[in-house]
Amino acid sequence: MKVLVIGSGGREHAIVDALTRSAQVEKIYCAPGNAGIARVAECVDIRDTEVERLRDFAAAEGIGLTVVGPEVALAAGVVDVFRAAGLRIFGPTQAAARIESSKEFAKRLMAKYCVPTAGFHAFSDYEEARAYVASRPLPAVLKYDGLAAGKGVVIASTMEEADEALRGMLLDDRFGEGKVVVEDFLEGPEFSFMCFVSGHKVWPMVLAQDHKRAFDGDEGPNTGGMGAYSPLPFITAEDEEFTLRNIMQRTADAMVQEGCPFTGVLYGGLMKTAQGIKVIEFNARFGDPETEVVLPRLKSDIVDIFCAVADGGEATLEWHDFATLGVVLASKGYPGSYEKGHEIKGLDRVHGKVYHMGTRMEGDRLVTAGGRVLFVVGEGATLSEARKRALEDVARIECDNLFHRTDIGHWALSK
Ligand code: AMP
Ligand code: GLY
Repeated sequence: MKVLVIGSGGREHAIVDALTRSAQVEKIYCAPGNAGIARVAECVDIRDTEVERLRDFAAAEGIGLTVVGPEVALAAGVVDVFRAAGLRIFGPTQAAARIESSKEFAKRLMAKYCVPTAGFHAFSDYEEARAYVASRPLPAVLKYDGLAAGKGVVIASTMEEADEALRGMLLDDRFGEGKVVVEDFLEGPEFSFMCFVSGHKVWPMVLAQDHKRAFDGDEGPNTGGMGAYSPLPFITAEDEEFTLRNIMQRTADAMVQEGCPFTGVLYGGLMKTAQGIKVIEFNARFGDPETEVVLPRLKSDIVDIFCAVADGGEATLEWHDFATLGVVLASKGYPGSYEKGHEIKGLDRVHGKVYHMGTRMEGDRLVTAGGRVLFVVGEGATLSEARKRALEDVARIECDNLFHRTDIGHWALSK
């Protein structure tokens, strides 16, 4: 089978890597891909939002399965367009992807079907939002409703900060027309639970935890994620069972009930609070960088799973026992402004897996091409062994403009 992967980051590199382990795959294409993906797949120069061009390419090349990475492609309706052309594609429809693209849709769904989440109110009027926030205890959790690449959440510890954020989200054009969801502030460790979902069927993946802050000790600005690991010792089997039943399965059933059955990866961003496990957000796709530590642990043939989800069939998932821990190498300055084009050397000396997040070739030199550049994964019998291996590999990579966190996994390793 020929397979097309849509996207260009570490997540897509990990998906491509998992596909290379399937005996059913004859050839892998990736649109648009990156320099690391180009070593194992043929990169096609089509952007992830050019859905008609992607469809035409898939039809012309006889692609048997297309796998969608990024949310922008889903929100642009790539799954609907492929299905209308009779092409098999792994991912949710535009209507189902609202669980990620619209916070208000997700929140109302959770309220209607009793899926545990933070209490919330949605506002489109600045004065009303401000008055509501002023009447409640701080910190205030403010979420811009719409796709905001992880930058649409503000946790304001003073009323001044809250006001500035509300003005930005509701009065400036910076974000476009929108709403703000004001949520109760929750506390506790966060974890990510990704499930393959096909209508009522839910197949759980192993758990992972992302690290959103830029610097060690969970300091500094929020990023797209600076590292991840799996498994999670602080989530018990009972927690996992509770989450699967009362959050993931219930949400999958709710989507069917609402007339927009979900197919693809349903990603639960969850928090283990003193009052139980609650949803922080849903995503309609594989998490990045969680995918880079979860898929290496998958023992089953991923093509069987993708096809079962897309076709409404059956699948069994088996997992390796080893732990994985991955560290992001990011451009200095990220998530603010940063330079591109710095040469990267030493990848041939690395022992484990390295997924490319933002790289490209300049002649025969590999150079940085994004905020997050590489994702270095260590595998080990324990998480601490996996971390040691990841950091040893990080030390083998040379580039004068990268930084990384050294404490990925601290939540699990300090206890
Ligand atoms: P989100 O984009 O919704 O995942 O939010 C980004 C980050 O903001 C989360 O990973 C949490 O660390 C934090 N956050 C979001 N919602 C809440 C909340 N209700 N209470 C506390 N922290 C939150
Ligand atoms: N790692 C968080 C996300 O993929 O949105």
